[in-house]
This record gives sequence, C-alpha cells and structure tokens, in this order.
Amino acid sequence: MPVKTFDVRDESLAIQGRSRIEWAEQEMPVLRQIRERFAQERPLKGQKIAACLHVTTETANLMRTLVEGGADVMLCASNPLSTQDDVAASLVAHWEMPVYAIKGEDNKTYYSHINSVLDANPNITMDDGADLVSTIHKERTDLLKHIVGGTEETTTGVIRLRAMANDGALKFPVIAVNDAQTKHFFDNRYGTGQSTIDGILRATNILLAGKTVVVAGYGWVSRGIASRARGMGSRVVITEIDPLRALEAAMDGYEVLPMLDAAKIGDIFVTATGDTHILDKEHFQVMKDGALLSNSGHFNVEINIPELEKMASEKRRVREFVDQYILPDGRRLNLLGEGRLINLAAAEGHPASVMDMSFANQALAAEFMVKNHAELKPQVYSVPKAVDDEIARLKLAAMGIQIDTLTAEQAKYLTSWEEGT
Ligand code: ADE
Repeated sequence: MPVKTFDVRDESLAIQGRSRIEWAEQEMPVLRQIRERFAQERPLKGQKIAACLHVTTETANLMRTLVEGGADVMLCASNPLSTQDDVAASLVAHWEMPVYAIKGEDNKTYYSHINSVLDANPNITMDDGADLVSTIHKERTDLLKHIVGGTEETTTGVIRLRAMANDGALKFPVIAVNDAQTKHFFDNRYGTGQSTIDGILRATNILLAGKTVVVAGYGWVSRGIASRARGMGSRVVITEIDPLRALEAAMDGYEVLPMLDAAKIGDIFVTATGDTHILDKEHFQVMKDGALLSNSGHFNVEINIPELEKMASEKRRVREFVDQYILPDGRRLNLLGEGRLINLAAAEGHPASVMDMSFANQALAAEFMVKNHAELKPQVYSVPKAVDDEIARLKLAAMGIQIDTLTAEQAKYLTSWEEGT
C-alpha cells in the first residue's frame, strides 16, 4: 500500500479553505513583499522545512512564502484543537503540501502527525511550542545529523528551549522569533488580547460588560487580554507572582489579588502564565456557580482539569466549546475549549494583520538560518535587530504611516555628552 502523504479531515473543504487563505493574505502585506522577493531570489532552495504550527489561514500564507523561497515544506499541527480543517485541505489540494492535522485529533494522532513530518528528514524545524525539537531530542536523535537549525514562535517554546540550552541538551541552534519586538509587542499583546476575547465570546455568547474577569499573569499576553476586557466594560482583576509586574498592573489601574481571593469573585477566568495548575482544587472549591474557566497559554496545564474531573459529580457538554462540571454542592463550573488555547480552539487565532509581522519574522529567520548556520552554536538566538527594524518599517509603510527622521543636529546631540544645562 502506498504511504499516505497527508492526513486531513475532509479534502472537499479545500475550496472554502483557499478562499479564506486569500482573504487573510490581503491583510499580510509584509509577508507578501517577502514572498515576492523569495520568488526572485529563492533563498531557501534545497531546504526541507518541517513546520509544527497552528494550521490557520495565516500559517498557510507563511507556508506559501517558504515554498516560493524554494523550500520543501511539511506541516503538522502544534495543538490538537487549533487546526482549521478547510485550510489543511486546501494546502494539500492546491499547494500539494504534505499536511498532517485534524481539528480534535487525540494525543496519539497528534504525535503520530509530528512523526510523519519528521519522517521527511528535515534540515530546518519551525516550531510553535517546541514539540518538534523536543521529539527530535527525545526520540528521533537519528535526525540530528540532517538538521542545521530551527525557529521557535512562542514564549512557552522559547522557555523550553532555553532550559534545554542551559542543560547542554540542545543540539542545534534555534532562533527565538518570539523575542523579536515586532512579534511579542504586537502578536502577544494585541493578537492574543483580541482573539482571546473573540474565543470566549464565540464559545459562550456572554456579555462582558459588568462581569468580573480574572486574568492570571501580567505578561504581554495577559496585558492584551486585560485591556480588551476592560475596554468592553468588565471589572478586571490581575493575579501575579512577580512583584514588578503586579505593581505595573496596579498602576495600570487593575485590582491585584491572590488567586484564592480572586477565585471567589470572578465570573470569567483566563490563565496566561505558561505555568501549571494556576487554577486548582482550592480555587474550584470557592468559585461562584456558573464561573467560566478558560486558558490562553500554550499548553492545557494551567487549569487542573484532572482535579476538576475528580471533584465533579457530573459533566456535560452544554455548547460546542463548553463542558459543564457539576460539583456535589450543585455549583456549575464551565470549562471552555477543554482548557486549550481558547483563541484558537473556539475562534480563529490572531487576526492576519498581526500574524503578518510574526510570520515575516519566521520567514526571515529561516532565511537567516540557511545563510548563517555554519557560524551558529547550539544555542537560542534572537532575531537580528536589523530584521526587526525592517519589519517595523515595512508594516508602517503598508499602513500608510510616515514618521520623522533625526536631523543631523539631533543625531549629533544624541552621541555627544558635552552639552548640558
Ligand atoms: N497563533 C495565534 N494565532 C495564530 C494564527 N492565526 N495563526 C497561526 N498561529 C497563531
């Protein structure tokens, strides 16, 4: 029997997928310019790129860019619930891409899909959460000899990779795309801010005005969520473990509380810390009847779901993305999107306009890796500042925004120290 070179839910969704991919492309002018240059220069010619990303319309446009650059690309999902099945179908049908991704796949299928893209012996990895790098280092070390380097999209992945590098376990260089300012200032804050609210609303259709929203963490992602929830009329409470961030949250005008206190008053909870068991048994014990629990961090570990399962006397699916856990005292706690990133599980992830910059960084990081891997060590590298600046310039130009430049006198002033009062 021939080996199956893709695994998607339904190939007949391809036409709808292509139309949505083209829709997103209109909002991705920076990536489009890179794609046009790649088509001329073919900087990725001969490269095999294994990508493990959320399979969305925006990712499809990144994949097209890599292909125009000359690469062979294979794609699998970076989360079991984030795949847009029509996009996966279109990439297979219209771009002949080996795609392994099905929305709702179980954990076993998720890892078999990761292994399918690795079977192609890639020489570059492109991760969102570091599952490719981790699988290669734990189970597929035979592949290391082919690999020149990788790129990583997200905060959680970068944390995992830095831990590997610190332990001396990382065997090839990886560029932390998340570190680019044109990535985390915009994608993490405005992208996750808007798309998390979008996910909660699509899952529940609740009114945010007048509700108490508890946001766990005050990193870039949480800041975006908090500001959007406040903008829609919610009372927002922040929980933190970092004193500086907590202080910033307080001075940004939010109420700051320990989670045990916040648990008693929250209507909606959103975790975005990157850590485990932020919402746990002691919090479930004091939450209000009807509380909504959601997560926007990369992994589904922030809400202790096994504990919730143990505590509940009954569980029922009340809407497509809402599981209701009924506790013995009658309180109903509603878990959204199975505790997976709610913006991609129940909505469509970040809008294309912000992914434009994130994925411009990915494309340019891949190009940088191809050109410079011989000089790089097995460490985590930041995106070069020149790349970041160029992406910001291109995005401003695409938005029709002009800015000032320093006069010669101003430039000189900034580099001199003699002038004072
Ligand atoms: N991560 C968050 N939003 C995304 C999107 N729209 N596409 C790919 N990855 C994402």
